[in-house]
This record gives sequence, structure tokens and C-alpha cells, in this order.
Amino acid sequence: MHQTNSIAELQHLVRTWRQAGENIALVPTMGNLHAGHINLVKRAQTLANRVIVSIFVNPTQFGPNEDYTNYPRTLTEDTEKLTKNSVDLLFTPECSTIYPPGASTQVSVHDLSEIHCGAARPGHFTGVTTIITKLFNIAQPDLAIFGEKDFQQLTIIRKMVHDLNIPVSIHSVPTLRESDGLAMSSRNSYLNSEDRTLAPILYQTLSEAKRQIEAGKSDFRKMELVYLQQLQQAGFQPEYFSVCRIDNLSIATITDKELVILTAVKLGKTRLIDNILVSLSDS
Ligand code: PAF
Repeated sequence: MHQTNSIAELQHLVRTWRQAGENIALVPTMGNLHAGHINLVKRAQTLANRVIVSIFVNPTQFGPNEDYTNYPRTLTEDTEKLTKNSVDLLFTPECSTIYPPGASTQVSVHDLSEIHCGAARPGHFTGVTTIITKLFNIAQPDLAIFGEKDFQQLTIIRKMVHDLNIPVSIHSVPTLRESDGLAMSSRNSYLNSEDRTLAPILYQTLSEAKRQIEAGKSDFRKMELVYLQQLQQAGFQPEYFSVCRIDNLSIATITDKELVILTAVKLGKTRLIDNILVSLSDS
């Protein structure tokens, strides 16, 4: 596996691959790789001749009181995992390479970036869309892979690519879960043992809400309140629990058939997000 922190070196390799007629996938990450990330790599390998993984803990997507400084950085272990999984190139840019002094341009997807997680994390999604635009411009991949765990992020990136005619095809991979249902996430390592025992209740609650909707419950606003209360009683500090339209994440109504239930909670000091898809098209 090649590894570089240089844009010029990455672009030289990409040119060589393109001249050989190969197509290229990018898997953007912030490192601390787990099986969910490796799943993204494996999907990329089925779609492209060459796979680039980027590891960059992007400061602009963290709020002032968030975990940028403490975010787990495990480059040695990550490099081993990516080598073992036959990734072609690992791109690990320095912060000063991505954001040189004076850089002041941002990419923002309005509205969608301000709801759900965006309401509690102002500026977060602008940080994400800015870094993803930069990585797309740097690597010029044919396609890029994102996890469905960050469903709002995925939706925003799809919209950005559509709105700005960015020639990168976006692919998503379903969330990988621990055996008890907890969605895999780098932030799970923050959970203490008591919170780790409670954490699977989040997905159990989403699954129960999905069952209720499939069984015909359609008063989504009432359901949201009930599940917020249930999560609170179970020991979480829920931020939101929303039944949404899958296409634009607006609040779902009774006529909508393709839904996603999105939730974010705090458990102790750890912020967890999760979601579940519900399709009523066949019912
Ligand atoms: O999902 C993540 O790990 C990050 O938000 C991403 C997409 C790599 C951008 O920094």
C-alpha cells in the first residue's frame, strides 16, 4: 500500500492509474478504523480498480466544545488494517495542507444542514461538505463510499453532489452492528461499561418504532414523543427522535412510504446517533 500526506504525490499516482484505464474509489474517514470502515473499503473494491482511503480528523466539523482534541487517533493500527485489506493508497494530509493560512471558502448545503444533528451541532455539516469537496477535488475519484450510519451526512453529500454537478458517484453501505445491535462507531470507545450495557437500547427502540409503523401506526408525532420519553427513562438524554421522509429528511406524514427514523442521544458524555429505514411500499 502507498501512503502519502502530499497532494502532488497522490495526484501523480491517480494520473498513472487513469492512464492505465483504471477507475478510482475514495473512502473518506477520520481514522480509528473499525469493521464498519473495512466494509466500506470492501464495497469500494467491488466497484473500482483502485481504492484510496483518506484519514483526516477534520477540525472544521467539530464545535468548540466537542471532542476534536480527544478524537481517537490510531494511525499505526489503521495502516495495518488497510494494508491487510489491500487498499492501494492511504492519504493522510496535514491540517496545514488542507487548510493553509488564509483559506476562507466553505461549501454549505442550506436547510438540510440545519435540522436534526445540524440543530445541535451548528456548522458541523458545513465542515463535512467543505472537506468532502476538497477531497473530491484533490483525488478526483469516480466514486466515493459512505456509511448509512451517518444518514443525514450521506443525504447532504448526495444533495451537494447533485446541486453542484460534482462528477462523483456516491455509494452507501448499510450500518454494521455489534452482536447486541449497537451501531459500530469510533465514538463507542468513549462509553464506560455501564453505558455500554445501556447503549443497545437505542437500536432496540428504533426497531420497536419500525415495527409499530409497519403494523399501521401513523401518528408519527405522538410516537416520537413516546420514544423520546422511553429513551429518557432508560438513562439517555435524547436530542431528537424523528420519523422522516427518506429523500429529504423532512418530517414524514401519513402518505409517505419510504421513511427513515433518525435519532441522536447523549449517553453519559458520549453522543450517539443511529437510524433505521422503513419501507411501506409493499404494504
Ligand atoms: O464520517 C466521517 O468519518 C466524516 O464525517 C468524513 C465523511 C470522513 C468527513 O470528515
